[in-house]
Amino acid sequence: MVAIATETLIGVENVCKRFPLPEGKGEFTVLQDVSVQVQSGEVVALLGRSGSGKSTLLRIMAGLIPPSEGRVLSGGKVLRGPNRDVAMVFQSFALLPWLTVQENVELGLEAQGVPKDERRRRALQAIDLVGLDGFESAYPKELSGGMKQRVGFARAFVLKPQVLFMDEPFSALDVLTSENLRGEIDDLWNAKTFPSASILIVTHNIEEAVFLADRVVILGANPGRVRGVVKIDLPRPHDRTHPRFKSLVEYIYEAMTNPEIEVTGAPKTAPVAVPVSPYAVLLPHVRVGEISGLLELIVERPEGTDDIPRLAESLQLEVDDFLPILDGAVLLGFAEVSQGDVKLTEIGRDFATTTILRSKDLFRQQALQHVPVVSLMVEALQERRSKSLRADFFLDLWAKYFPYPEAERQFATTVDWGRYAELLEYDASEERVYLPEPTPSAE
Ligand SMILES: Nc1ncnc2c1ncn2[C@@H]1O[C@H](COP(=O)(O)OP(=O)(O)OP(=O)(O)O)[C@@H](O)[C@H]1O
Ligand SMILES: [Mg+2]
Repeated sequence: MVAIATETLIGVENVCKRFPLPEGKGEFTVLQDVSVQVQSGEVVALLGRSGSGKSTLLRIMAGLIPPSEGRVLSGGKVLRGPNRDVAMVFQSFALLPWLTVQENVELGLEAQGVPKDERRRRALQAIDLVGLDGFESAYPKELSGGMKQRVGFARAFVLKPQVLFMDEPFSALDVLTSENLRGEIDDLWNAKTFPSASILIVTHNIEEAVFLADRVVILGANPGRVRGVVKIDLPRPHDRTHPRFKSLVEYIYEAMTNPEIEVTGAPKTAPVAVPVSPYAVLLPHVRVGEISGLLELIVERPEGTDDIPRLAESLQLEVDDFLPILDGAVLLGFAEVSQGDVKLTEIGRDFATTTILRSKDLFRQQALQHVPVVSLMVEALQERRSKSLRADFFLDLWAKYFPYPEAERQFATTVDWGRYAELLEYDASEERVYLPEPTPSAE
């Protein structure tokens, strides 16, 4: 292929973003030293789990919020205020219900002061491009989800931005509709009739990233940071049945399931930093039932092992829903992940096949051994004469490190695990945590 001179259209340099925690308890770091460039002519996917700061990064690049540190360069200049070079497609469509399709599409042009006739002409063109001709006068409520998102695309296309931003544009649609629309967007791009010079798409769907993008930027969470970039070295359109496609997907799965490995193209395990407090460690938000469901599925496979993409598929789960379950199983020492395969440990196999009573014993043993926050809660309760504490007491411990909704989720997950293990009880009406009676040994 001939080398084409590329030009950086937009980039962030060493961007940090911090939000204040409630009640002046310091700050919560969402993005840590992030640098990402988008070149003209390329599709870049930002891939990361929920909470890794993907939307925040897009908002910073769109100039909707300022970075706490670092800078955004757009068109070679430091960005101050809203970025005129980008247009955004949102997961939620974000249409105005009281305006017609045509009026929704014209809105951004109106804001730019484009005269009425030109507005109308360009809007009709964009509506045509997304296959909605004939629906110009329809209102959003008369449209299906897929059609609404077509309006979302038309509204961005009409602005002819340098870079089109898409924030999980297909994830609110059903599987078939999203598949169709994704294919159409890719066709437009491959046909070189696309109304922008590059695309930056946020997704948590690995296949979608490998299908659409030329480069996949893998973000780590807590705080959000760039772990590495994977080049998708496939001819366009990217063929899902190509062995290289599959190995890229597996490689990224492996990276996503092992937050500690370096994403280089030759993954190797690096030591994990020792956390300051167990309350600063995020537990995956999964219920015990989901973990045991996964283990029971694997135990039925030959040799008690299976390949991660296939497991996610057979459970009909999105990566974002599947990975936390796997994380939970690995954290508790029930499963091991290597080279894109999941394998049960001996204890995991025992847990998946034994009686309920014994599985509770095994779960208790593993939780006490591998999840320090569970032991800490039990110890705190044992120190009280009433053997109980208000939920707030624990919530405040998490809230030192996380925003309140996250603290609540951590509390809920820990209590779910602790209850299953019969180490904790929770009275939701009194919002109190108890040691169960009779007190089990925490040894
Ligand atoms: N304005 C804000 N104030 C405080 N915290 C915020 C704010 N905006 C985002 N956050 C926090 O920053 C973190 C990252 O949020 P963000 O929406 O960027 O993540 P994301 O990767 O887009 O996640 P998702 O996949 O769920 O969309 C979250 O923990 C969120 O609660
Ligand atoms: Mg988001």
